[in-house]
Amino acid sequence: MIPTINTVVAIDGPAASGKSTVARGVARALNWLYLDSGALYRGVTWQALENGIRISAGPALVGMVAELQIAFAIADGAIRFSLNDMPLGIEIRAPRVDKHVSAVAATPGVRQGVTRWLRKAAELGPLVAEGRDIGTVVFPDARHKFFLDASPDERARRRYDELAERAEDVSPDEVGRALRRRDTLDSERDADPLRAAPGAVAVDTTGLTIDEVVQAIVARIREQ
Ligand code: CDP
Repeated sequence: MIPTINTVVAIDGPAASGKSTVARGVARALNWLYLDSGALYRGVTWQALENGIRISAGPALVGMVAELQIAFAIADGAIRFSLNDMPLGIEIRAPRVDKHVSAVAATPGVRQGVTRWLRKAAELGPLVAEGRDIGTVVFPDARHKFFLDASPDERARRRYDELAERAEDVSPDEVGRALRRRDTLDSERDADPLRAAPGAVAVDTTGLTIDEVVQAIVARIREQ
């Protein structure tokens, strides 16, 4: 694994804590690449659903991941992924993927495969990576680590707004329930559970604008 102490900013946190938008903003401010690790867990989940692989069938899922061909491209300052020549698009954000992704991501063999892909992506250049285990497992030697959170109500509201904007047919209650379920699965699983990495700077984004969070993080990186 290449040393990533000075070339990775790790941003972890639960769903809808603001990680993606903030990580993109920090990457833009530093002129580094943006890496969305959740997109890979979502892409694997989408592939499994398309191929009719049962999510609870661990070995079949891990076998599928081992066979998948990954390719990277850079567009708009972000690393984009293709799995088996299929660029990951908006379909990986659908509610059916939301529903199954945490179970897929709890499978140790899937995590090993995705972690390998993420480390490979770090060869493309300095990056701001966001997810659940970036500071703890994927790039544990990164100097700059942040843990974003927001109140459950605020996170449910943000996710509902995002889905409503895409005209997904969901109710605020359903969105809140799905988010809480995913939080529990992600924090209580045995394999690489969601945790703040030792030394990570905690940022509560409730009531803060994206710009405020980005500025606070960039200032912290510059002084670290
Ligand atoms: O954007 P959102 O916070 O809803 O989720 P995401 O970052 O797209 O991640 C989707 C799911 O992938 C999470 O709920 C986790 O189950 C899993 N994940 C993970 O286990 N480890 C990561 N580094 C990133 C995502």
